[in-house]
Amino acid sequence: MMKAASSLLAPIAKRLDGKVAVITGGASGIGEATAKLFVKHGAKVVIADVQDELGHSLCQEIGSESVVSFVHCDVSKDEDVKRVVDSAVSKHGKLDIMFSNAGIAGNMDPSIASVGYEDLKKVFEVNVFGAFFCAKHASRVMVPAKKGSILFTASTAASTAGVLPHGCTATKYAVVGLAKNLCVELGRHGIRVNCISPHTVNTPMVRAALGVTAEMADQLIEEAGNLKGVGLEAEDVAAAAVYLGSDESKYVSGLNLLLDGGYTTTNPAMQLTLEKIVSGA
Ligand SMILES: NC(=O)c1ccc[n+]([C@@H]2O[C@H](COP(=O)([O-])OP(=O)(O)OC[C@H]3O[C@@H](n4cnc5c(N)ncnc54)[C@H](O)[C@@H]3O)[C@@H](O)[C@H]2O)c1
Repeated sequence: MMKAASSLLAPIAKRLDGKVAVITGGASGIGEATAKLFVKHGAKVVIADVQDELGHSLCQEIGSESVVSFVHCDVSKDEDVKRVVDSAVSKHGKLDIMFSNAGIAGNMDPSIASVGYEDLKKVFEVNVFGAFFCAKHASRVMVPAKKGSILFTASTAASTAGVLPHGCTATKYAVVGLAKNLCVELGRHGIRVNCISPHTVNTPMVRAALGVTAEMADQLIEEAGNLKGVGLEAEDVAAAAVYLGSDESKYVSGLNLLLDGGYTTTNPAMQLTLEKIVSGA
């Protein structure tokens, strides 16, 4: 049936209207795309990051100070995360969505022999301790409100082993474990807890970690992916965060949402090797 012209021209529904969100690692990559999409959907956003200049200029680009603001926050510091949550509450009166997204790749050497105490400490402090502090301070204000959505960015590295170095992989497994455990404790208080696990996205972190240009990263994403003709973008992760932050997912908790085009479902090594052997390449 043809839709009436008026319904085709209707503005996109604001799926986060009236919600207040904190996005850690919000100055770049996935966090940046999410901040933009959250504001588009009517949310008030507090961007928390260590990149102050980038964070402030992003806020100016997105909207007015009453809609989107920046707070310097190193997620590995308990008191920094406390400050950003307190700032969201004093500015907007509540916190509906905590998107614990800040993360680092850490030492990219894949060998266990290369693991050093300082490297390991740093990646755990940002990726795991940061996630704990985000959940702790978000729940402090969400529990009395008896509602809220806590989201973590994990990774396909917590589903397919051997792709990223041990430190980064171990931290992402820890994040998924924390989310599942929290979903039980906080479910009693009406708070939902979920993970988003993206496969490779062409962001500054990925380019720096892999030592590739943007073009090379695009090629890698396209050729190594399972789902052909399409690549994962930061905006796709942002769209998943809108869904999990909104009331559309009101009964979704304890989920690790894989955005991987089926990558973790398959292992093409046998088929590729067979093709190589048969073709004599
Ligand atoms: N890009 C990918 O392929 C990919 C895949 C799976 C998971 N992830 C995860 O997505 C998240 C976002 O990464 P991205 O790819 O957008 O990278 P990015 O580098 O573009 O963004 C990460 C942001 O986190 C910030 N950050 C780093 N340390 C911080 C700290 N201590 N406190 C506060 N902020 C800090 C950075 O300044 C940066 O703005 C990370 O958790 C990453 O592990 C990324």
